[in-house]
Amino acid sequence: MDFEILDLRKIGGDEGFLVPIEENGDIPFAIKRVYYIYGTPSDVVRGRHAHKNQHQLLFCPIGQCDFILDDGREKTTLRLDSPDRGLYIKGVLWREFTNFSADCVVMVLSSECYDENDYIRNYDDFLQYTAHLSHNPQPQGNRP
Ligand code: TYD
Repeated sequence: MDFEILDLRKIGGDEGFLVPIEENGDIPFAIKRVYYIYGTPSDVVRGRHAHKNQHQLLFCPIGQCDFILDDGREKTTLRLDSPDRGLYIKGVLWREFTNFSADCVVMVLSSECYDENDYIRNYDDFLQYTAHLSHNPQPQGNRP
C-alpha cells in the first residue's frame, strides 16, 4: 500500500525534544498547506475520503488516534500515538480516522492547497477510480 511510517527527526534529551520538519528534506515533498484537527469525540469517524493528487504527512503531536487506510483491495489500521512518528500518504488511499483520545491533535502537512476537486468522497467512486489507476499506473493530474 502506498504509505510509509516516518520516524521524525527528534532532537533533545533530558530537557525535552524538538522535531523539525523541513520540506524536501525530512519529508519528501514541498509543503503548501498545514492544518490540524482537534476536539474530536472519540467515536467520531473523520476522513472518509481519498485524494487524487496530494501527498500528506499526518502525525499526532498530542494524543493519539487510529488511521484506517484502504487502497481498494485491502485495509490496514495504524495507531499514531507519538509526536515523533508520522504517516506519509503518497498514494490514492481511502482514509478514516477514529478512536481519538480526548487531547488528540492531528497535524497534517500537505503538498497542495485545499481543493474540493481533489477529493473523492464517495466510496464507490473511489473503487472505480483505483480500478482505473491499476490499469493506468500514472495518476491523472499534476501529482507531485
Ligand atoms: P475534510 O477534509 O472533509 O475533513 P476531515 O477529513 O477531517 O473529516 O474537511 C472538513 C471541512 O473543512 C470541509 O468543509 C472542507 C473544509 N476544509 C477547508 O476549508 N480547508 C482545508 O484545508 C481542509 C482540509 C478542509
